[in-house]
Amino acid sequence: MSDERPVKASSRLRGGVRVPGDKSTSHRALLISALANGESVIEGLSTGADVRSTALIITQLGAQLKEQGDLVHVLGPADGLRPSTTALDCGNSGTTMRLLTGLVSGVEGIHELVGDASLSARPMDRVAVPLASMGALVEGGGERVTAPLRVHGRAKLRAIDYHVPTASAQVKSAILFAALHADGPSSVREDVRTRRTTEDMFRTSGLDIDSVDLGAGRVVTLGPGRPRPSTWIVPGDPSQAAFFSVLGVIHDDADVVIEDVDATPERTGFVGVLVRMGADLSSEERDSRLSLRARSSSLVGVEVFSSDVPSVDEVPVLAVAAAAARGVSVFRDMGELRLKESDRFEGAMQLVRSLGCRVWHEGDDFFVEGLASARHFAPFEIDAHLDHRMVMAAAVAGSAGQGCVIGGAATVSSSYPGFFEDLASLS
Ligand code: S3P
Repeated sequence: MSDERPVKASSRLRGGVRVPGDKSTSHRALLISALANGESVIEGLSTGADVRSTALIITQLGAQLKEQGDLVHVLGPADGLRPSTTALDCGNSGTTMRLLTGLVSGVEGIHELVGDASLSARPMDRVAVPLASMGALVEGGGERVTAPLRVHGRAKLRAIDYHVPTASAQVKSAILFAALHADGPSSVREDVRTRRTTEDMFRTSGLDIDSVDLGAGRVVTLGPGRPRPSTWIVPGDPSQAAFFSVLGVIHDDADVVIEDVDATPERTGFVGVLVRMGADLSSEERDSRLSLRARSSSLVGVEVFSSDVPSVDEVPVLAVAAAAARGVSVFRDMGELRLKESDRFEGAMQLVRSLGCRVWHEGDDFFVEGLASARHFAPFEIDAHLDHRMVMAAAVAGSAGQGCVIGGAATVSSSYPGFFEDLASLS
């Protein structure tokens, strides 16, 4: 394995961590600011490589960017964005590629989008299909329209009324970015409420957006328009907070605080899952920010539905929690896990199997028979397959259990370059 990283078992965990700025908010702050006419300011942007890809791309499209300490100033060009003469490199970032495909669909001209090996295997047909109905052509490889992509953007697109077939905030957002250039109001319908980051930020930008909750789902309607420049303060990333939350509750001598985390309900489903498992995980909300305190707990197995944690980013680390619980946990309707930075369905099962658990699956459901305590985890080796969340889930298991060796651990920098330092600071 290349670039191996050993993680030692920790005997005692104390202290607090401040996770990086939310990745979803960071990508959108850059893209919305690039579209605006004038200067926007972003505080607390994610320091991960994914967001850096988006930052570089907006400069290729004509925005100007200046960093000043913790602040990033973005100047959107008065006459709008224009195609780049060189390819737009989205690196490992699915959010960059999908949101950008929507955004450049409304920028007249041809746009080339490329990504790394992981991103080039991920399906882009989920955005190509609705964008084609709006009048943009998105060309890629095979039926699943994989990168490299060639997007033929049009200054004027057709409005759309679209039902997103699988729960995906990236697809919803790609359509909403394109809808800014449509010839009338567009609607996007989802059966499960995914993160509403785009909707909230578009509203703050003065755009004409309306969102109605319908049962478990939501209908978002957006009229065409141009965002106005804004000041963005990026909250801590809840999906990163999930790693330290699980670590704190499965470790047998832990008391860990995670501060300043985005509190929107679509992002914090993992807290409810852990509490149902019996976790001593308290949360306090102030000004839409959550402070979490995770302490050593005895967990029991539970049933987790994908709709409990829309986008399923937290599932690999919740599977580690299940491995430390008494009894069987079942993770239902988890097919989307197969389409992330790596096949996280296989990856999560392999991770908990290597800890010593009995694991099996039926269709898109997988089952984990827990070992009743992380003290019973076996030492293990695993390869991250270019997937930052698999690195962090493995590190949590190794730190709470008997240590591990993670191959390809450097990929953690896609979203959380300081992860191992923050982990070390607790022990
Ligand atoms: C994201 C949406 C999610 C998530 C990703 C970020 C976003 O994917 O996995 O890490 O910022 O919109 P889905 O589009 O599959 O929900």
